[in-house]
Order: sequence, then structure tokens, then C-alpha cells
Amino acid sequence: MDKIVICGGNKLKGEVVISGSKNSALPILFASLLTDEPAVINNVPSLDDVSTTLLSLSFIGKKIIKRGNTVEVYSSDSRTYKHRAPYDLVSKMRASILIMGPLLARLKKVDVSLPGGCAIGARPIDIHLEAFKKMGAEFSIEGGCVKTHARDGLRGNTTINLRFPSVGATENVLLAAVLVEGKTTIVNAACEPEIEDLAIVLNKMGAKVTGAGTKNVVIEGVSELHGFEHEVIPDRIEAATYMVAAAITKGEIILKKVIPQHLKSINDKFKKSGLYIKESDRTIYVKWIKDLEPQNIKTGAYPEFPTDVQAQWMTLMCLINGKSSIKEDVFENRFLHVNELRRLGADISIDDKIVNIKGVKKFSGAPVIMSDLRAGAALILAGLAACGTTTVSRIYHLDRGYEMLEKKMKKLGADIKRICD
Ligand code: EPZ
Repeated sequence: MDKIVICGGNKLKGEVVISGSKNSALPILFASLLTDEPAVINNVPSLDDVSTTLLSLSFIGKKIIKRGNTVEVYSSDSRTYKHRAPYDLVSKMRASILIMGPLLARLKKVDVSLPGGCAIGARPIDIHLEAFKKMGAEFSIEGGCVKTHARDGLRGNTTINLRFPSVGATENVLLAAVLVEGKTTIVNAACEPEIEDLAIVLNKMGAKVTGAGTKNVVIEGVSELHGFEHEVIPDRIEAATYMVAAAITKGEIILKKVIPQHLKSINDKFKKSGLYIKESDRTIYVKWIKDLEPQNIKTGAYPEFPTDVQAQWMTLMCLINGKSSIKEDVFENRFLHVNELRRLGADISIDDKIVNIKGVKKFSGAPVIMSDLRAGAALILAGLAACGTTTVSRIYHLDRGYEMLEKKMKKLGADIKRICD
């Protein structure tokens, strides 16, 4: 199993180009199931989750051509589509659940394995199923598979109240309602930029979606959707990870091809802590100029502080003099990186959903294990700052969501390499 070995202590300096957003590319790729016409998606990051998605699309009946960061999707006749995705693909990636919307809308049925829980929590799909039930679908769970069908087709003229602004459930309803006759209203929708990017694609295809990016989204169904070309927005979580890298190594980094507005909650916290940040249209310049002040955070649905940056932020707070706290309000078990940070010397206590941190002077390098994608990023950041060598294993988590991470970090001056064990 590959490992990443880091010799800490180097200040990171230079430029990094932020890749396309994983969490925008995935739903947009699944949106190609809504048409038989060609789709061209640019700025798609080369990640394992993208590969898994392309395998699912091929299994269902699409012809995929990936050239660098551009994916072309072609199809034959949707009547030949399979109405399911195989367990081995769904079990690898929870976002596979997004085949439900398009296939229910087009084939009136879909079988999808219950996505496994993962390190950060049970991650049920009740909100998705409740929404489709409201739209007239019926489902049964057999052998770990959700068999869903809408005999007479999904029903429009419904209002879907989400009990939590679930990103995936909002996307799944969007991916179904665009082809359902009548008006569908989503109340308490997720507002993430990735939702807006998906809605832009759907409207390019001929859909009628309004309000994406707000709590209330209205979809007027149409009878047919067309092919599209689109450039995926930059990955705001990757961008935040490199901002932490600059702060934790007391360096200075220019982030290119980024949308500063998507990082407002994070930048506000960084500025309050004393990090120098200069934003322009598509770049963010970050420079460590003085010892930072600890800042408390509480994660929440966008535009609150993103849960996907919680682990990285925690690593930074561990090395800042003073006390800080983190409240994780989105997932029920997203503190698995705490024990690994403690191995490096962190002083952290957990009280249910709240973590209390006391800054320490330094981390000492040690072998650590990744539990999930963002915890993995946090351990890499910790290794960059630690004295000595940090060896990170189970780095397959990282390859799901960070494009060329070691290459980008090395270009910024990190002493980092991947070893095949
Ligand atoms: C998306 O996951 C992201 N993944 C996650 O990023 C991100 O952490 C999450 O949104 C929250 O922002 C992708 O976009 C591919 P949710 P998703 O449905 O859609 C509970 C990463 O690191 N819930 O908004 O699965 C759920 O358990 C990944 O890139 C239900 O209870 O997240 C969680 O506690 C990790 N029932 C909360 O809601 C449901 O039916 C938020 O989940 C659905 C969700």
C-alpha cells in the first residue's frame, strides 16, 4: 500500500493552480444521464471518485472519452440503459446515489445499493427517499439494495421540504424534477456553490431551474433535455487546504483559478486569526506575517464554515498558542483525525460534538493513518509543520479527492514523496 513520507519544517512558497471541484464534477457527470446527446465537461479533476463515476456511467450505457481534464460523454438510446449501478462501484463512492434522480426520471425505475456508511458517519439516504416518495416513487429494500420505481412516472406539482439541507438530496431531486411535468419546489435546499454549478448545467440543457444557491429552488419540468458543454467551478475545499498549508508552514502562496467568494466563511476566520489575505477576481494571495490568534469555528451548511475544512482547520489550531474549539454540526463522527493528531503531539479533548484544543509549540513527526479524505489532508498538513518525518498510510483516501497533491506541494517547496510499500 502506498504511503506518503514528509520531512516537515519547510515554508511553502509559490503558486498553486486549484483543480476543478470534485463535488461539482460528480453531479454534473451524472446529469449526462438526462440526455442522449453528447456532453463535454471541462476542468474535471483526475481523481479516483471521478474514475468511479465514469465506470458507473459506462455500466449504465454511456460511452466515455476522457482526455486530460476533459470528459466527453456519448450515448446510444436510453432505452438500452441499465437501471442500476453495481455494488462494487456504489460501495466505493456515496455520490453514486445520484444515479437515482436521472434514472427515475427517464426509466421510471432504479436499483442502487445502499451506500455504505463511511468513517465520518452512517450517512443514511432517508432524505433522498422521502423526497422521491413525495414525488410518487415507491421503494423496497432487498439485500442491501434500494429498488425504486415510479410506475406512472414521477409526479410534479409537489413541494419537497428537506428536513436538513442535504447537498446530495438537493442534487438528486434537481436531477429528477427537471424532466417531471409540472412545478417542483425544494424548500430548505442546500445552497452550496456546487448546487448552483449543477443548475447552470441543467439550464444549459434546456431545463427551467430558478433559485439554485438559495433555500428555495423551483423547477418547471420539460419534456426533453439536450447535450451541453461546461467548465466545472474550482474546488473551494482544495483551495482552503492550500491556504492552511501556507498558514501552518508560515509561508506565502498564490492560489490561482479560484473563486474567493466561495471561501468567504473560511477567509473571514483566517483574516480574524491574523493571516494576510489579498483576494482578486480569480486568485487569492496568502501570507503568514505574524503568529496567528486561535479562532473557534462551528461547521454548518453553506455559507457556514464547511465541514470539509474542519479537519484541516483543527490541525492549524493545534499549533497556535492559546485555546480554541470546534463544533461539528454536520456529521456525527467526523473527529477520527483527533487520535492521529494526538500521536504527533496535539492537545485535544472531545466532548460529544465539540473539540477543545490547546495550542502546542510543535508537532513531532510519527507514522499516522488516514481515516477519510479530509482527515487525510489534515495529516499531510500536520506533517508539513512537524519536526522530523511523518509517514501517512492508507493514502487511497487522498487519491479520491486531491488531484496531484504531492506534486503541487513539492512545487511549493514541501519535502514530500509517495513511496510504494
Ligand atoms: C456532500 O455529501 C459532499 N460530497 C461531502 O463532501 C460534504 O461533506 C457534504 O455534502 C456536506 O457538505 C459530495 O458532494 C460528493 P449531505 P452528502 O447529504 O451530499 C445527513 C468530501 O470530503 N443525511 O449534505 O452526502 C448526513 O448523514 C465529502 O468531499 C441524512 O441524515 O452530504 C450528514 O450528517 C465528504 N440523510 C448530513 O445530512 C440523508 O438522506 C449532511 O449530508 C442525507 C444526508
